[in-house]
Amino acid sequence: MATTKEYGLGEFDFPRGWFMIAPATDATRTPTSMRYFGKDLVMYRGESGKVYVTDAYCPHMGAHLAKNSTSYIVLDGEHVEGESIRCPFHGWRFGPDGQCNHIPYSDNFIPKAAKLEHYHVVESAGIVWMWHDPEGLEPEYDLPSFGGHYGEPGWVEWKIDFMGDLNVHGIEIVDNMADLGHFVPIHGAKDFTYFANECMGHIVHQYYSAGHRTLTAEEGDQLVLDTWYEGPGFLQSEMAGAFDSFIMISNTPIEDGISRSWHALMVKVNDGTREITDEDRANALAYQEASRLAFAQDVEIWANKRACLNPLAIPADGPYGKVRLWYKQFYNARDKAPELQKRSDGLYVTMDKRPGSKAA
Ligand code: FES
Ligand SMILES: [Fe+2]
Repeated sequence: MATTKEYGLGEFDFPRGWFMIAPATDATRTPTSMRYFGKDLVMYRGESGKVYVTDAYCPHMGAHLAKNSTSYIVLDGEHVEGESIRCPFHGWRFGPDGQCNHIPYSDNFIPKAAKLEHYHVVESAGIVWMWHDPEGLEPEYDLPSFGGHYGEPGWVEWKIDFMGDLNVHGIEIVDNMADLGHFVPIHGAKDFTYFANECMGHIVHQYYSAGHRTLTAEEGDQLVLDTWYEGPGFLQSEMAGAFDSFIMISNTPIEDGISRSWHALMVKVNDGTREITDEDRANALAYQEASRLAFAQDVEIWANKRACLNPLAIPADGPYGKVRLWYKQFYNARDKAPELQKRSDGLYVTMDKRPGSKAA
């Protein structure tokens, strides 16, 4: 494991962007503790159904807002009231804006400083997402829409696969975007015809076309993927193989150099004109499982490798340097990002054997 500073990424230890923090089913009326970005946090669901994430420690005297099972606040069901959360220690209650809105033994005085830090959270596609911003600013761009496939007719929604807490910095997970050389040994790719990367502002793409040992319908078919990151926290991929499908792979920092990862995949089982059957669901689940196993091949490497501060890259490797430069923008002040983007923006073709291409 190595830290952000050791990789020389920038001034902030934790990056700016949208991050998966939990499957939506984990957000309930019972506050839960979580740790991300080197901070203790608490998540709860208000009466309206909205999910809130706050700092874990009460500004009054520092009690943990979720880690309690014996206070009468918890036992009497007063822990979450409406959209507010009440501290188990002295019962101070904090509203959806973080401001203290009730002190049970002080009718006419509530200090202004009694405010809990709140984080920007969105629930989408069965997942709770948080905007993390080291400068404390509002989101720079909206949470992506996952190809519009979640809930789209003809598509089976994903289930969430927890992949583990890995002793690896997010940069090494994002390196995969440029890593042409690992697809044959790790993932069972074969007969590559195209591999390229494109950096465009806060987005990086990988364009991929190759055969595969298991994920194509017929021997000789190509698996065609457009895979991208919008910010540093999660990958999305439109994959045309035995089925059309959509992959999400997340990496969220817990501590500097330790990442939590989830995988999920949606499958198109028909054109949307007929009901989804049990058989469709079984096919989709089996396809998700094949994709999870393919990702687990990366995870096993990451879980056991030493840190790679500088890849010993050769020309036939993909553009690690450009992808790492792209990744740096999220560890530096927002107003420095355009300068870094200018240095990484562009299309980088590592392999092109398509019929008619110059290199074929
Ligand atoms: S420590 Fe939370 S109300 Fe006192
Ligand atoms: Fe991989």
